[in-house]
Amino acid sequence: MDIQASEEVPREYLEEVWHILSDKEFLSLDNYEHHHNTSRLMHSINVSYLSWLLAKKFHCDKKAAARAGLLHDFCPYDFREKTPTGEHQVLYHPKAAAENSVRMFQISDRELDAIRTHMFPLGPVPRNKEAWIITLADKICAVTEFCHVAIALARKNRMVVVKNAI
Ligand SMILES: [Fe+2]
Ligand SMILES: [Fe+2]
Repeated sequence: MDIQASEEVPREYLEEVWHILSDKEFLSLDNYEHHHNTSRLMHSINVSYLSWLLAKKFHCDKKAAARAGLLHDFCPYDFREKTPTGEHQVLYHPKAAAENSVRMFQISDRELDAIRTHMFPLGPVPRNKEAWIITLADKICAVTEFCHVAIALARKNRMVVVKNAI
């Protein structure tokens, strides 16, 4: 599986996230449906790009926003499964995503906080500007995805997942 980006996707954005988008375990998020109409991979890409744009506009840490946005749902498992702690998935999955992100990628404290708090108000309060951006971008993407509206990099096939032939 590979990701293809059109010329419309800013190189500046791609440079921040390409190593994550080249990782096989991360790409396996494509196997999980998200918000009924998309995959967890495409949702994560959209949250990442929207967060990057917002961080750029408001002079925040663009790199942290792009990376934490991409990793905020880094949970390669079916959300219908029971959680190991017995918590509701809504509260559990940000912790799982944070744990997976620490294990796989060198994430900063700022990025870690943004991943852990992205479900606010269902969960802890974001403690930095980038974390607020990600919780907002996640909700915008969730609503548009539920409504079958292509947003961010899902629009005009700006970024597509290519499934390689076996
Ligand atoms: Fe989430
Ligand atoms: Fe999400």
